[in-house]
Amino acid sequence: MAACGGKEDDTLTMATNAEFPPYEYYENDEIVGIDVEIATAIAEELGMKLEVEDMAFDSVIPAVSSGKADIGVAGMTVDPDRLESVNFSDTYADASQVIIVKEDSAIAGPADLEGKSIGVQLGTTGDTYSSENVKDAKVEQYSKGFEAVQALTQGKIDAVVIDSHTAKEFVKEAEGLKILDEAFTEEEYAIGIAKDNDELLEKVNKALKSLKESGKLDEIVAEYIKADAE
Ligand code: ARG
Repeated sequence: MAACGGKEDDTLTMATNAEFPPYEYYENDEIVGIDVEIATAIAEELGMKLEVEDMAFDSVIPAVSSGKADIGVAGMTVDPDRLESVNFSDTYADASQVIIVKEDSAIAGPADLEGKSIGVQLGTTGDTYSSENVKDAKVEQYSKGFEAVQALTQGKIDAVVIDSHTAKEFVKEAEGLKILDEAFTEEEYAIGIAKDNDELLEKVNKALKSLKESGKLDEIVAEYIKADAE
């Protein structure tokens, strides 16, 4: 669909950052996850073929607004600043930022983050909120969320602020870390679409609605997020 880049008209190009399980991540050489399946289902509804492009998280919105990609699907939180660059579809998931610390950490909630070093993925809402809302925080930006988690394991930083479901996946992969009960923020994920592409926005919303109504969306989510993990 993208006008430039020599893409076929029947290709729907998805910009993402595949460092974000369970929404998008590599399994062997393939990008899989909730967002990929949702986008595949949307492309199917539109009679198109999905093409996934992996890039840095902070390149996803520019790729969409410049028309290099048709849709940005990256566990992307609807946020007023981003709305200045792209439109968002209807939301498809609830999320929150949580705090990961070492099991023996004295940090017990958001208030204890004051003056601490906090690892985040560059350009995410965890990055913005930590920088804007935590007093005297030393925010360390990593290009991948898991790098922040590794830095925490190595004792280089005091905490990581990241989306809840991704936090659960990362903590499973690491040793000696825990997620604090108190969430930092509540957010919702949606698909980013270029501001001048109302036609696609409408089509995507229609496809999302039918995925919600048919139960297909819940099915996709259940495949990746087990019920006991909220
Ligand atoms: N929900 C957060 C945000 O919108 C983090 C998203 C990170 N996504 C990714 N694919 N790395 O900023």
